[in-house]
Amino acid sequence: MKKTHWFDLGRIENLKKRGLQHIIIDKTPIALIYKNGEFSATSGECNHEKGPLGKGHMEGDYIVCPWHGWHYHRKTGHARPPNYAACLPRHSVKKSGGHLFVDLTPQNRRSYFPHPPHPLARNITRKPGPIRIAGISATPMSKALKRYSTSEHLLQAALDHARSKFKLETKLIKLRDLRFNHCGGFYSIDEKACTWPCTFSQFDEKDQLGEVYEALVFWADIILIATPIRWGNASSLYYKMAERLNCIENQVLVHNKRLIKNKVAAFIVTGGQDNVQAVAGQMMAFFGQLGFLFPQDPFIGHTRGWAAEDMGNNVEYVRSSRELKQGAGRLVERALAVSRSIHKVKGNNRF
Ligand code: FES
Repeated sequence: MKKTHWFDLGRIENLKKRGLQHIIIDKTPIALIYKNGEFSATSGECNHEKGPLGKGHMEGDYIVCPWHGWHYHRKTGHARPPNYAACLPRHSVKKSGGHLFVDLTPQNRRSYFPHPPHPLARNITRKPGPIRIAGISATPMSKALKRYSTSEHLLQAALDHARSKFKLETKLIKLRDLRFNHCGGFYSIDEKACTWPCTFSQFDEKDQLGEVYEALVFWADIILIATPIRWGNASSLYYKMAERLNCIENQVLVHNKRLIKNKVAAFIVTGGQDNVQAVAGQMMAFFGQLGFLFPQDPFIGHTRGWAAEDMGNNVEYVRSSRELKQGAGRLVERALAVSRSIHKVKGNNRF
């Protein structure tokens, strides 16, 4: 028989005032529920990432975790959907002398839904082979009505140059072709709620940002990001991706773990109007925080200035400019020089 360890939670009349509360006793978090005139108690720690369940809310008979919304039955502790084998430890409660007591010895063990680790949760090791460059195009564009993009044109020129002149492996990711969620802003609740792999990658099998995570964290040695300027900023698609990359940077804060090491980033910024330096500067600040290194002159850009609103001419200018194309090639060469020197410093001369 299990040894009980009853703890006095206080006056029942006071405890009835809240439907769900988070109570910590000797470092043990308890979620205390009062519903339909009865008390129940479960562990206050979510099975997923230890979110504080007592700080969540109730949906019917279920406690909803405040971090990512997992549900647990208030009496059985079973997670929803019901076929989930996951279950919280339950704690007995009793009333005595107008006070409520909780047994700190749980009635059952915590159980988890058995599943293989997420593919992105694997160790980060560089696969052997030549230097690899991933280009990420952030230009938004209607799939139904394909059109020319100045930033993507220069990105493509850079990747072509890397392949033809240096025999590097390249990959082009067009963000507009990926279906992915907006960042859920979990970091704003608690830094530990922003997880690696990203919560959306874990739970939404249709979320396709995994392709970007794979390229940035595992596959590529160099990344080139290309964006148009939209109202003085990078594109909305760029920001949609960037917010989802918070989980990479956040690992340093939460686990002192750098996911990005020995990788180089460079940028291509084009627009009908001005602001190249501000856009590139913002991107450099962000990718620097992620852990990327930069070559000298880490971006190329093109605008014809504030007054140039003859966009058709702008397109023609970029499409036919040999100088811009050569600039894209030279950007690759500068990024490659840094990448090579990093790997030489590491004593790895395979590249
Ligand atoms: S759902 Fe509870 S920690 Fe993620």
